[in-house]
Amino acid sequence: SAEAVPQAPEDPLFGLMAAYRADSDDNKVDLGIGAYRDNNAQPWVLPVVKKADEILRNDPALNHEYLPIAGLATFTSAAAKLILGADSPALAEKRTCSLQTISGTGAVHLGALFLSKFYPGKPTIYFSNPTWANHNQIFSNVHLPIATYPYFSKETKGLDFEGMKQAIADAPEQSIILLHACAHNPTGVDPTQSQWKEIATLMKQKSHFPFFDCAYQGFASGDLVKDIWAVRYFVEQGFELCVAQSFAKNFGLYGERAGCFHFVTGSGTDSQATIGRIASQLAILQRSEISNPPAYGARIAGLIMNDEALFAEWEENLRTMSGRIISMRTALRSKLEELGTPGTWNHITDQIGMFSFTGLSEKQVLKLRGVAHVYMTKNGRISMAGLNTGNVEYFAKAVDKVVRE
Ligand code: LMR
Repeated sequence: SAEAVPQAPEDPLFGLMAAYRADSDDNKVDLGIGAYRDNNAQPWVLPVVKKADEILRNDPALNHEYLPIAGLATFTSAAAKLILGADSPALAEKRTCSLQTISGTGAVHLGALFLSKFYPGKPTIYFSNPTWANHNQIFSNVHLPIATYPYFSKETKGLDFEGMKQAIADAPEQSIILLHACAHNPTGVDPTQSQWKEIATLMKQKSHFPFFDCAYQGFASGDLVKDIWAVRYFVEQGFELCVAQSFAKNFGLYGERAGCFHFVTGSGTDSQATIGRIASQLAILQRSEISNPPAYGARIAGLIMNDEALFAEWEENLRTMSGRIISMRTALRSKLEELGTPGTWNHITDQIGMFSFTGLSEKQVLKLRGVAHVYMTKNGRISMAGLNTGNVEYFAKAVDKVVRE
């Protein structure tokens, strides 16, 4: 009977968001969910998105018809070019397919579902330890066995590269390795280009399948090309791979759920036929789950990506967001160093993207919430965008206090 359904735990991140909203303290600081905030701690609608929105709303031809199953073609083709590069041989050789999804989460899910059905054998998927909390439940829901590879070194608060390599080398051949394309969530720690090359070599030796999760292109460094270097390198190396792409952060289109799933096959004589069959199966999966994706966010992102002037303005907006985050990293580190807070704080500026993995313990995190009304996830992750010139000193002082206790 229905009574047998057990209670599920609350989602930690959305639970944190609700707790922050319910807190009436004037000094409260939201460093929880990864969503950009301006210097006044307010959501920021990108000026270029406002402009695209205006254009769309004034278009008399706009209607609310269904999109095709694979989504808005002008959006998915621009999304593929953004990932792979307009001059990518994979695109020229037509060995890629792209389906619009319910943002990055939907893209990861569609990929997971597809692999669970069609990947030969029962492959294990390897996640970085730690990874985005949702990866675990998405892949368990499709019954793929899960394992982890070491990633974050508690000592250096940087990459545990040796541990990562060892695990990739030890994994059974043809495992699926989930990789964060840039701005790793939750740690903010990315491999260097030469480390990526070593990872690619190792994965090639073991015939592993790369599954890239790309939620922060352009958001990490402000440079769309630089942030996607690893994915393009793997494609150049001839890997068959897939990419889950989110436009939540880099367009600030969080609630519009604009994303894309891309599959790239290796180059070979029958690669076009192969990709055609893959696309046909993905379309069936998509139809049974969401029928066809939501239109509005894709229209906005598509319009901007396909127009030279709007694209340039978008890049400018990306530099505004990433620049403010980078300046908050500098500010936080120097405040902590000025205060002489015990420990080292160089990792705050070494890490990149939306998050910093502070190294604070769960106990310290809970104390910060209780005493200082600072909201961050229990693993010590902070969303850098929650800091601003008005609260960074308050936060640094609160951290200083709990670290000394
Ligand atoms: C986060 O990790 O805070 C974001 O990616 C939001 C989410 O959906 O979890």
